[in-house]
Amino acid sequence: MSEEIINENIEESNEDIEETNIVEEESSVEENFTINDLPGVGPATAEKLKDAGYDTLLSVAVASPSKLGEASGVSDAIARKIIQVAREKLNMGFETGLDLLKKREQVIRITTGSKNFDALIGGGFESGSITECFGAYGSSKTQLAHVLAVSTKLPKEKGGADGAVVWIDTEGTFRPERIKQISEGFGLKYKDVLENIKVVRAFNSDHQMLLAEKVEELINKENVPVKLIIVDSLMSHFRSEFMGRGTLADRQQKLNKHLHVLIRLAHTYNLAVYITNQVMSKPDTFFGDPTEAIGGHILHHASATRLYLRRGKKGSRVAKLVDSPSLPDGECIFYITDEGVRDDV
Ligand SMILES: Nc1ncnc2c1ncn2[C@@H]1O[C@H](COP(=O)(O)OP(=O)(O)OP(=O)(O)O)[C@@H](O)[C@H]1O
Ligand SMILES: [Mg+2]
Repeated sequence: MSEEIINENIEESNEDIEETNIVEEESSVEENFTINDLPGVGPATAEKLKDAGYDTLLSVAVASPSKLGEASGVSDAIARKIIQVAREKLNMGFETGLDLLKKREQVIRITTGSKNFDALIGGGFESGSITECFGAYGSSKTQLAHVLAVSTKLPKEKGGADGAVVWIDTEGTFRPERIKQISEGFGLKYKDVLENIKVVRAFNSDHQMLLAEKVEELINKENVPVKLIIVDSLMSHFRSEFMGRGTLADRQQKLNKHLHVLIRLAHTYNLAVYITNQVMSKPDTFFGDPTEAIGGHILHHASATRLYLRRGKKGSRVAKLVDSPSLPDGECIFYITDEGVRDDV
């Protein structure tokens, strides 16, 4: 094993120790009320609070007056008032089981075009949460992104979401000609499908984070009915920018923020988020597959559904469900064809 890979493994395994932020649920915040709306918080104070990490109502509500005052420069009395209002405005988010069941009934499942694959994940890629596929080079992560970018356009009764797609491309691997082929496989007009996909190239991790935030504007200001956000691949910029600089905690903090944005979009707009992820080799594995996803615990917690993709026999691919809130672990075999993803060739 090369020295580089060993170093990388050490770094990645340190993540679990260094990272402290756990992805919080954003649903506990009363809609539309942000820290900018707190009494005594003008734009400059809001900026200072955000810089100091008080970027959600929850973080303000659980802060101590002295720390908040220190971070924002406001007096102790005002800090107390700010905290009190944040607590009042914070909807603690208790919901009945029945409310949640109703929400689950709204979930849309986007088809892969393969019956076996869809069955493995309960009918398709779910809206309302993040699905992560990780796997080695050529395992079909990007091919699957192309398929979903097409099938999202289908009407709901045909396994689509009747919606638009945002594709955040970090590696320059979006291929319109592939979309054309796959559209034909689904019986869709490729021009309509291509028009339905908003592709944007992310040049670094900050850019990637900003683009995810901008999706909200696309939905609200431009009325684009986004039902799928693809981030292919999630970690490539984060990984290369923070490699070997001993700043893994910083990286994980940024990643956490990025994932928060994606989770909030998924919740708020009932859209699906598909992220692809790379793998690294685990030097201490003696049995089974010696690879694991990168990104550490933060990513593990953020993705509701996680699939491991690999090459199988005779040109097939294997998808293994490794984490799902409601489905048993399992595997299926599928093939990549000109038309997309299929059970057989
Ligand atoms: N039209 C097609 N028919 C059959 N197989 C195809 C077709 N187009 C691409 N492939 C297969 O898809 C593979 C590429 O898969 P993909 O780009 O999705 O991998 P990936 O998991 O995204 O890898 P990376 O980690 O490099 O991004 C190619 O190796 C090729 O075998
Ligand atoms: Mg790829």
